[in-house]
Amino acid sequence: MALIHKEAQEHSATDHAVVVLSNPTYYMSNDIPYTFHQDNNFLYLCGFQEPDSILVLQSLSGRQLPSHKAMLFVPRRDPGRELWDGPRSGTDGAIALTGVDEAYTVEEFQHLVPKLKAETSMVWYDWMKPSHAQLHSDYMQHLTEAKARSNNKVRSVQQLIQHLRLVKSPAEIKRMQIAGKLTSEAFIETMFASKAPVDEAFLYAKFEFECRARGADILAYPPVVAGGNRSNTLHYVKNNQLIKDGEMVLLDGGCESSCYVSDITRTWPVNGRFTAPQAELYEAVLEIQRACLTLCAPGASLENMYSTMLTLTGQRLKDLGFAEASKDDAFKAARKYCPHHVGHYLGMDVHDTPDMPRSLPLQPGMVITVEPGIYIPEDDRDAPERFRGLGVRIEDDVVVTEDSPLILSADCPKERNDIEQICSRTS
Ligand code: GLY
Ligand code: MN
Ligand code: MN
Repeated sequence: MALIHKEAQEHSATDHAVVVLSNPTYYMSNDIPYTFHQDNNFLYLCGFQEPDSILVLQSLSGRQLPSHKAMLFVPRRDPGRELWDGPRSGTDGAIALTGVDEAYTVEEFQHLVPKLKAETSMVWYDWMKPSHAQLHSDYMQHLTEAKARSNNKVRSVQQLIQHLRLVKSPAEIKRMQIAGKLTSEAFIETMFASKAPVDEAFLYAKFEFECRARGADILAYPPVVAGGNRSNTLHYVKNNQLIKDGEMVLLDGGCESSCYVSDITRTWPVNGRFTAPQAELYEAVLEIQRACLTLCAPGASLENMYSTMLTLTGQRLKDLGFAEASKDDAFKAARKYCPHHVGHYLGMDVHDTPDMPRSLPLQPGMVITVEPGIYIPEDDRDAPERFRGLGVRIEDDVVVTEDSPLILSADCPKERNDIEQICSRTS
């Protein structure tokens, strides 16, 4: 908690309060709830896993000790609702679970709002993007009206929290190591299970089963399980077609384990043997990926790595006989055949801390993905014929350290020989 106050105080020396709302329960249709997922900023600051709650971190600096106070406002105990939704912690449980100084019911928050308005010089609150629409309109809207904003009294808190979340603690990295390891094992089992022909839906289910059987809470996102030419649709999530003998599958999948996620991609032939053009393209991407991994060191940035990726991709395309990479700008050809960035920050969210620029120098404790790819749609008449309809991406999760990078997905095979061996295993 002291850290978020320190972040806030760098911007304001006066009394301030940080207000963060939890998520509500979302409903997929009448009375049928989606699985609850907490707002990750709220979760990061207090660890409370229940919906409809408010966290207030108040700084009383210069007046009295202690100078900081953490308060949770939580739903009151309600046996009628708890019969349906499960037990609530209530105020006593909230203190016991999280260690906040004080806890109240959500309704009691109405008494704090006028005080925040009158007595606090600065309120840090995400009024532009409230994570709970009802709590915002019931309580916080009054505080964030135009007058308060024009006095510069209300400022967004999101960036302060993202700044903290950007560099992971050893405890966070331990959780990410577990997520990376169990996802790698799930990939191995899914590779082993992919005997041609095979349904994308089967591989999807197998991957999810293997993650959850190893302790993952949920998948981190709908995976891409794309056979053949469908691997060229970057956000392919239908995962409902048959993958034929001789085709590759691109599986981009990850899970969430104890609030931290993995995000790994592998591409392999479902019959266990790369054809010559598949192997040629795969080796090109692997070489680019290895080169990018060597750049995961303090001082470099995702932007630097992206430039390197484009340069190398342009060169490889030229070597593979792509006329556009020879005649025109190789960078342009690289952008055409790899339309996405080399990676992103990773943590509690898959695309973690999205307001933090990719130009930031990497520091020990930052976690990123490294995910070059080359995608060649089957109707691309400019590409050499043997590559048409192939798409390859290789994505690893990497912790930046003072020394060599720590690859969280290191147990997930990516050498061609290793993949072929797993696919041809008999048990
Ligand atoms: N799975 C999403 C991504 O790789 O960015
Ligand atoms: Mn990714
Ligand atoms: Mn991914």
